[in-house]
Parts: sequence; structure tokens; C-alpha cells
Amino acid sequence: MTARHPLVLGAGLFYPGGEHITGWRSPAAEPTRYLELDYYADFARTAEAGRFATVFLADELYVWDRYESGVDHGVNIRPEPLTLLSALSQLTTKIGLAATISTTYNEPYHVARKLASLDYLSDGRAAWNLVTSASDEEARNFGRDANLDHAVRYRRGEEFVEVVHGLWDSWDDDAFPHDKATGIFADRDKVHVLGHEGEFLSVRGPLNIPRPPQGHLPLFQAGASEAGRALAGRTADAVFTLGSDNLEEGRRLYKDYKLRARRAGRDPEAVKVLPALQPIIGRTQAEAEEKLRLLEELTPERVALDLLSHWLGEDLGRRELDEPFVFDADPAGFNQSKSLYASILKVLGEREFTLRELYREVLRRRFVLGTPDSLADRLVEAYTERAADGFILMFPTLPDSLFDFVTEIVPRLTDRGVYPAEYAGDTLREHLGLARPESRYAA
Ligand SMILES: Cc1cc2nc3c(=O)[nH]c(=O)nc-3n(C[C@H](O)[C@H](O)[C@H](O)COP(=O)(O)O)c2cc1C
Repeated sequence: MTARHPLVLGAGLFYPGGEHITGWRSPAAEPTRYLELDYYADFARTAEAGRFATVFLADELYVWDRYESGVDHGVNIRPEPLTLLSALSQLTTKIGLAATISTTYNEPYHVARKLASLDYLSDGRAAWNLVTSASDEEARNFGRDANLDHAVRYRRGEEFVEVVHGLWDSWDDDAFPHDKATGIFADRDKVHVLGHEGEFLSVRGPLNIPRPPQGHLPLFQAGASEAGRALAGRTADAVFTLGSDNLEEGRRLYKDYKLRARRAGRDPEAVKVLPALQPIIGRTQAEAEEKLRLLEELTPERVALDLLSHWLGEDLGRRELDEPFVFDADPAGFNQSKSLYASILKVLGEREFTLRELYREVLRRRFVLGTPDSLADRLVEAYTERAADGFILMFPTLPDSLFDFVTEIVPRLTDRGVYPAEYAGDTLREHLGLARPESRYAA
């Protein structure tokens, strides 16, 4: 048996100020820098100093204005991921560059081409975080009144991946002799016309850029519903899960993804399971608690309530805050993120909550509080007990919580023998321990 690949870390970024919706108001935050390249270069270089496998830029295609608090209190602006990562590719040398791209509101030819270009610009460090887009607001920016049905989104997503992979194989790896003497730039026997006709997509090909340095770019996914997991088992190289503080639950989920990969005829080790982790790091547990308390204090009640309203798909603004909260759930009919919805129902099932208690609990549970030692222990345990192959870190506040993680927790992971002291290679596939796939035409 080959040795297990070392623990993998990804550095995620959704809100420019960090994963806590009020991160931008924290003492170290620098909200005037959220459109400066240097701000993101500092982020990527700090993560690179910590030998993170990849930076991951989360993204959605709308401004969260379903509720007014989203506009005046939330940071709803961010640079477009592929554009930003192209710039970062020139300011970093090792770290992977993962862009979030929606399969619902894009065309695969564009996506295959842009990602392949980023892979060339970065010498094999690009990746794609596939999302199917969850909200109606996104639909309205692309000529629809409402989002596609959840099941339809995932069917389109699967066909989309098939087409992108097919387009990346348009040219054999040795298709370009660039021979000035004979005048042959490309070998016509080594180009393939995809000719895809499917349920949603019709794409002739070939792609107008050669096969990417990584062959196929690593594909990340976070869909956690039945449809999301099925797609991940068949196609993802890494899955981001919501994470859980329950080790047994983490192990079950981990096994589920590996089993799905095996059933799809894939090597389970080639599908990395990376729970999301939002660490609040204190020198003592009490200091971590105090940091979270400060963030809660800075978060207007309205925003907290509106976030919960968004996740549950019901405006809770007129509900009584201090009465027992009763919710009429409809998991089958819910058309946004089904897994997030289910995770809130799970909290609700634990005991009776008032609305005030519920929003506080749901927001709190997104974060893990600890000291460098207790957090390192937790990560090592999840890795060794096979509840995780690594973690996708979503830093609550920036730049401080990334800096603290890299200076305090990363060395402890290395000391405990689960995390590399150096990058093992140069491409993102190498950082993830994934082989470069052969072209479908190679045989
Ligand atoms: C760590 C993590 C990062 C995510 N990043 C994004 C993102 O950038 N954009 C997006 O639209 N959805 C994002 N999602 C949401 C997922 O893509 C997916 O929509 C969600 O998990 C619900 O999937 P489900 O309907 O299959 O349960 C993320 C989820 C997780 C756990």
C-alpha cells in the first residue's frame, strides 16, 4: 500500500473581509483595500508561506439585496475570480489558484478556455470550484425569473463537466510540432472534434487552446445534497463539506464520498474530502471566546436574522424573537442550498429554540474556537481518523486569522508529522497527490 498523502490545506475567501459577515468591521480589517491587488497578493503569499495547496476564491453572481441589511451592512463586492487569479498567478510561484465558476450561468466553451489559459499562465496551478448557483437573484441576472430546479441544475452541471473535459482533450499533448522548416504548426491528426449534443448543451469544439499543463484541472465541488454528492463521486477531485464538530458524523460523510467514488470506478484516494473550517484562534480558549463575542457585538441583529431568513427561504423579520420558534419545513420543495437548510433543521431538532436563540446558535456553530494546540489536535485527529483528507480554511477575519493560522497552527501540524515541510512539487495536482489524467483519445 502506498503511504497516505499528507494533509491538504486550502485557503478560501468569500467575503473579502473574512468568513464572518462582520469580519470587515473587526479591529485588523482593511475594508478600503478590498479592490486592491496587493490585498489579495498578501493573502495568497501568506497562504503560500504556510504551504497551502491552493487559494480558493468563492463567488456568487449577484448582490445579496434580498434584505436591506445585505446592502448596507454586508460586503457584497468582490473582484471576479478568474481575473484576480490571473494577476495572482504572476505574484506567487507554488500555490494553487481555484476559481469558483457556475455551470448554470456559463457556457462550457468559455469556461474550458479561461481555465486552460489560467493553467498556462500559472504553470499548472489552476483549479475549478464547480457550483450550480443556488439563488433566484442569480437567475435574474441571466434572463430568468427564477433559478432552475435543483435537480435540473445538477444534471446540467454533470453534462457541463463532461463537455469541459472533452474540450480540454481537443488536442493531444504532442499535437504541436511548431516546425518552421516544414511549416507544420499543429498536427491535424492530433486534434479532436468533440461534437457534443446533449440534454442542455451542444458544443462542436475543438477548443482553441492546447491541452492544459495539468491535462484536466483539478475539479472542486461543495454540493452536499444527494444530487451534489452523486456528481462529486463521479467527477470531483476534491469536495468541500460543511464540516461538523462530531467526529463520527465526519467519518460517515467521508466514507460516503469515498464509496461513491469507488462505485464510479475511481480510486477513492483520488477524491479528497476537505471539510470547511472557520477557526477562531486565541492564545487561550477564553481569548477565542472573546473574539467571537466581539464579532457578535459588531453584527447588527437585523443581519443575523436576515441571514437565517435567507438560508431558510422565509422572511423571519415579523416573527416574535423571544417566543418558541416553530418552522414549517419543506426540504423537498426547497430550491436553494439543501444541505445548509438541512443543517439548520438539525439544530432545530435538538431542543426548543426562540428565534433569537436560533440565529445566535446557527451563526456560532459556523466557527470552531480554540488555541493553536487544541485546533491542531482537532485537525490531526480528523485527518488520522479519516474524517478528512485536509481542510478548506475559511478565515473569520482577515488578515489576522490567516496569519495566526500560518504562524501558530501550521508548524504544529508539521511537527506532528501530518503536514509537509516543503511543497512536494510545482503543480496543484502534485500538491493534491493527483496524477495527471490521460486524454480520452490516448488509448
Ligand atoms: C466550503 C464551501 C464553499 C462554497 N463556495 C460556494 C461558492 O463560492 N459559490 C456558490 O455559489 N456556492 C458555494 N458553496 C455552496 C455549494 O456549492 C452548494 O451550493 C451548497 O453546498 C449546497 O449544495 P446542495 O444544494 O447540493 O446541498 C460552497 C459550499 C461550501 C461548503
